[in-house]
Amino acid sequence: MKRALLLFLAVSIIGSNSFGQTYADDVAQLVFDNCASCHNPDGIAPFSLMNYQDVTANSAQIYDAIAQDRMPPWPPNENYKEFSHSRALEGQEKTMILDWLSNGMPEGDPNNTPAPPVFDSGAILGAGDLEVQIPTYTSKATSFDDYVCFSLPSNLAQGRTIKAMEVVPGNAPIVHHALVYIDESATYATDTVGGDCAGPTNAKLVGGYTPGATPLVFPNGSGLKLGMDLPANSNIVLAMHYPAGSNGMKDSTKVIFHFYDEPVSGVREISAEPILQNWSFTLPPEQITEVSASYSNIPIDVSILSIFPHMHLLGDQIKSYGLDTNNDTIRMIDIPHWDFEWQDFYMFKNMVKIPANSTLHADGAFNNTAANDHNPNNPAITVYPGLNTTDEMFLVYFHYLAYEQGDENYNIEDLTSLSVESYLDNTLPSTISVFPNPVNEVATVSIQGKQGDNILSASVYDIQGRKIETLAQGLHFTNQTELTWNTTNGSGLKSGVYYLSIRLNGVLYDQKIVKN
Ligand code: HEC
Repeated sequence: MKRALLLFLAVSIIGSNSFGQTYADDVAQLVFDNCASCHNPDGIAPFSLMNYQDVTANSAQIYDAIAQDRMPPWPPNENYKEFSHSRALEGQEKTMILDWLSNGMPEGDPNNTPAPPVFDSGAILGAGDLEVQIPTYTSKATSFDDYVCFSLPSNLAQGRTIKAMEVVPGNAPIVHHALVYIDESATYATDTVGGDCAGPTNAKLVGGYTPGATPLVFPNGSGLKLGMDLPANSNIVLAMHYPAGSNGMKDSTKVIFHFYDEPVSGVREISAEPILQNWSFTLPPEQITEVSASYSNIPIDVSILSIFPHMHLLGDQIKSYGLDTNNDTIRMIDIPHWDFEWQDFYMFKNMVKIPANSTLHADGAFNNTAANDHNPNNPAITVYPGLNTTDEMFLVYFHYLAYEQGDENYNIEDLTSLSVESYLDNTLPSTISVFPNPVNEVATVSIQGKQGDNILSASVYDIQGRKIETLAQGLHFTNQTELTWNTTNGSGLKSGVYYLSIRLNGVLYDQKIVKN
């Protein structure tokens, strides 16, 4: 880390602008697309990266975080196996930002800077068929993170098949992650004491929420329809993670389920199970301990849609793969630096076929030394498997289904994106219009949404990307609405170009407004 920083400083002193990248033309869009969903004033990250000043003020840290693949947070090694909806920067994007940082960070012509995005935490899939919400909870995370679990009745009289699931954080800046489980036996109880609940074990994991992620939508087109059973009278369990420093802040996160219409036809059922587990290991203090788990003789051919490795704070690395009857390796996932804060279901780009009689494996290591920043014990003590965050776990969940001919050829990334769009399709506005433009005093913004409920956030930025005014934040409206921007509000705004950024039902739009 030191070396990278020194090198970076040396290069930036002697560097000239030979590569030609500028913030306005090249870097701003990359930062908006890959960083700003968390690094915005209302986001989960500790500082904002919404304009040139924000980025240059944090340049040394940004260089290290990108060069060392810490940011954007995406733990799987994409050289081992690729996943849908990856947050990782592509090679050339990474090079572009690093070169620009090493070359004196030229701003370029601010007129070329794209409009900064706006964010909200509203439900982009809209109202669903079942909504469950945790009671208002006040975070107890002072200098440690707070992990709490809520068990909520579904009150479903009849079993249904899940088509999509969206977690809507109540207070986005403090919801670091959430995991959603189905407890069919309805026996697991809410656990908010001790702040170390890592979730139930005898429950089916549906998916998770991390900031900026798209909602979970299973492929539901004519070629491939997938769904997950939600049995009648199940409880829904939300395992919530509130970060250190959020003490005293309130949250009431909810989860919205969308079901297939009844009677369901042609939908293939996804099973969710922690197939690989190891509950008998001991982690002595000041040691790195290797742990593994396997499952032999898979009874039938299966297709694996997604994978979720799980360890707690002492986790160091984990890799999972299959071995077929010829002992050929079937790659699944490699997480070289486990990070408890960033865990998720990773959806493959193509489903992975595991032929009958194969064996599944997971190999990992725990770091129970003082060198592990996440070690909850100082000095280190012997740690055993258990349910609390301060105990350890070693398991790998799978979303899988019985194999059918051609499964491995479906492009899951495209199919899931299309399925998200199927919710948004009729939400495209026929118009977002600003009148008058150019404006002398008051500009009126007319927005036409879809029929029924719409959710809108809108802000005005100056050409330097500084926010001038929030016009709407998470505003619900029916069919159409109007916003006004009074350009004479506050201290005199300069004449020139401003950006109006709008997020309507999860989709971004922007427009330039000229003030006379
Ligand atoms: C999904 C959310 C998310 C995204 C996307 C994201 N960050 Fe972060 N970032 C965080 C959070 C949360 C922290 C603070 C805790 C931590 O370090 O994990 C952080 C911390 C940082 C830090 C300081 C700590 C460190 O590791 O150096 C830097 C620098 C940083 N981010 C840069 C970036 C850049 C640059 C991008 C885009 C290329 C980016 N981040 C994308 C959430 C995010």
